[in-house]
Amino acid sequence: MLTFDHVHFYYKKGQPVIENMSFTIETGEFVAIVGANGCGKSTIAKLMDGLLLPKEGQVTFKSLDTSRPEDLDKIHEQIGFVFQNPEDQFITTTVMDEVVFGLENIRVPREEIRSRLDHAIQAVQMEDYLESMPHQLSGGQKQRVAIAAIVAMRPQIIIFDEATSMLDPQGREQVISIMHALHSQGMTMVHITHHMEEVLSVDRILLIHQGRLEFDGDPLTFFETVPVADYQLEPPFAVRLNKLFHQSTPFTADWKEMIRLQWSIN
Ligand SMILES: Nc1ncnc2c1ncn2[C@@H]1O[C@H](COP(=O)(O)OP(=O)(O)O)[C@@H](O)[C@H]1O
Ligand SMILES: [Mg+2]
Repeated sequence: MLTFDHVHFYYKKGQPVIENMSFTIETGEFVAIVGANGCGKSTIAKLMDGLLLPKEGQVTFKSLDTSRPEDLDKIHEQIGFVFQNPEDQFITTTVMDEVVFGLENIRVPREEIRSRLDHAIQAVQMEDYLESMPHQLSGGQKQRVAIAAIVAMRPQIIIFDEATSMLDPQGREQVISIMHALHSQGMTMVHITHHMEEVLSVDRILLIHQGRLEFDGDPLTFFETVPVADYQLEPPFAVRLNKLFHQSTPFTADWKEMIRLQWSIN
C-alpha cells in the first residue's frame, strides 16, 4: 500500500542520498528500518509522507502520489509521525489538550472528540495523567502522549523515527509494547531504529546502507545472513551469546529458540 518505486533523492545535486529504492509496505505490516547514522533513514521517512519529494521515481500511498500537490493533505492524514525528541512535539500545556488540539485542528465534531480522546489515552495507558503537564512526565510517558495524539487522528500508518532512542530501558520497553498492541489492532507500523533488540519481533526488516536497500526480509534471515556489525549496528544479546558459544558452527536451532523467546515476551 505504501510503495517506493525506483526512488532517487539528493539534497545537493551530485550527492545522492537515496538511490534507486523500491519496496512496498503492506497494510498491517510491522516493518523496521535499520542502518548506520546518516544512511538515509529519516530521509526515507520524509519521502514517505511527501515532506520531501523524489528527484526520480514515485512514492505512492494506495492511489495517492506524493508528487501530486492535491494528494498531500490526504497523505498527511493517513500517515502519522512520532519523532525522536518528545519535547519537540508538544504544543499545549496538558496531556488532554495535546490530544484534543490535533482533533480540533482537523475539525473533528465535539461529540466525537471525547471518545477519540478516551480511546487514544487508553491505548497508551495514560488515563491517570490527563491533567498533567507534558514536560513534567518521564521520557517514555512523553512519547506515549505523542503516540496518543497520533492515534486519535486515526492514521493508517505510524512512522516512528528513532522514537525510542532517547528513552531509558523501561520507557523504551513501554513504547515498544504499545507499538505491538497498536499493530495487533491492525495498524501498520514503520519503526526506524538502531536498537537491534527491538527488531527481533517485527515482521520485516529493511536495512539501508549508503542510501540503498541492502536487505529486505524477516528477522531470523536478517540475523543469520547479515553481519550487522559491518553496518555499525550491535547484534542483539541472543545473537552475541550464540556467537560466543558456537564460534565455529553456523547459527543453531538454539539461537532461533532464543529469538522466539524474545517474541513471546513482547
Ligand atoms: N536537510 C539536509 N540537507 C543536506 N543534507 C542532509 C539533510 N538532511 C540529511 N542530510 C544528509 O543526508 C544523509 C542522510 O541523512 P538522514 O536521512 O538523516 O540519515 P539517518 O536518518 O539514517 O541518520 C546524511 O548524509 C545527511 O548528512
Ligand atoms: Mg535519522
